[in-house]
Amino acid sequence: MTNRIDLKQDDMPDFWYNILPDLPEPLPPPRDVSGKSIDVLRRVIPSKVLEHEFSNERKIRIQDELRELYFQVGRPTPVIRAKRFERLFNSPIEIYMKMEGYTFSGSHKINSAIVQAYYSRMDGASLVTTETGAGQWGIAVSLASTLNGLRAKVFMVGASYKQKTYRVTMMRMLGAEVHSSPSDLTSIGRELLKDERKRNGSLGIAISEAVEYAMQNNGKYNVGSVVNADILYKTIAGLEARKQLEMEGIEPDYIIGVVGGGSNYSGLAFPFYPDYKDTKYIAAGSLEVPKMTRGEYRYDFPDTGKILPQLMMFTIGYDFIPPPIYSGGLRYHGVAPTLSLLMKRGIVSPRDYDQDTIFRYAELYARAEGYIPAPETAHALPIIKEIAEEAKREGKKRILMSFSGHGLLDLGSYATLYSGSTS
Ligand SMILES: Cc1ncc(COP(=O)(O)O)c(C=O)c1O
Repeated sequence: MTNRIDLKQDDMPDFWYNILPDLPEPLPPPRDVSGKSIDVLRRVIPSKVLEHEFSNERKIRIQDELRELYFQVGRPTPVIRAKRFERLFNSPIEIYMKMEGYTFSGSHKINSAIVQAYYSRMDGASLVTTETGAGQWGIAVSLASTLNGLRAKVFMVGASYKQKTYRVTMMRMLGAEVHSSPSDLTSIGRELLKDERKRNGSLGIAISEAVEYAMQNNGKYNVGSVVNADILYKTIAGLEARKQLEMEGIEPDYIIGVVGGGSNYSGLAFPFYPDYKDTKYIAAGSLEVPKMTRGEYRYDFPDTGKILPQLMMFTIGYDFIPPPIYSGGLRYHGVAPTLSLLMKRGIVSPRDYDQDTIFRYAELYARAEGYIPAPETAHALPIIKEIAEEAKREGKKRILMSFSGHGLLDLGSYATLYSGSTS
């Protein structure tokens, strides 16, 4: 094969894959502690998204209009064989990258944003609200909103708002209104602004603000990770990748990727799960926010304001205030319930890597392949080293990785590599 496997537009899947009926045990349902949170969901989540959240259908059809929107933003994406990066390991490995950085928004996030904006429009909404960490999800929602003729209001984690100024500009170019979170636009934001230590914000805080703002302004809230429906829409990447590898007769020994809230990794890996039982699944997060390796499996709030129903997941606590690391997309405190369940059952093995390590891997990758990964994406690269060691002992290993985003708007963060400080 060449270094690149492409799909024709007509071959792009016309359904998403829902893992719920295939899980090894039923998913614990959301818990409505306040007695009001399910009602909140009904008000702010687009009705179709809510229906998909609890659907038990294995395959859910993608309407033609949505397929058109997927084409518009750069789907289908190629799978690239990273041969030059492979050589660095001096080991019999093959690395296949599913290139989600090739989409217009620059990451996998558009796969769901475009769908949620579309369903928000179908409900008659004119405003969508959302949270964003590093800004990848915010950009995706901004792009999806403009293509659907909607107004977007984005609450961006304070620390990232300062660090990722070009992402803020990109969202504004696409027509969105962007606010540093905590903000003075919501009651929870105003409360937190009183405490100096909370001004850097967190995804949990930004989610609460986005939900509150949607409730008070007749908007729809679009969710960037964690929940079943968001992951369902992101399986377009995994379904494409599966077709692409099968076209070439390639069966991955490993599927790897990074976890913020879990949608990136799940979007790639879930469509393989029912049939690829010998494949090993490894997912990595940030050691600075060590929910993957040190989280507890329990019910917890997905948001700091405790507006939303509790979810059963690996968590380091909804009130965890993360350090201002550069991989803003990995600052979230919990792991998607579906992915958490597979971790609990030992089907997905967790890892966490520190920022200095992944910056070095990002640099190695850029120099070998000539393409700059987002710092979030780079968290999966150290897993390859581990597999390469195993391949030296056991023979050839084929690895499929989600190349979740490019790092062209993360250069401010990478600049610290050359100024001597990474924190
Ligand atoms: C480039 C990139 N990769 C991966 C992630 C993690 O995504 P998820 O929350 O879907 O696990 C993010 C989150 O923002 C991201 O921006």
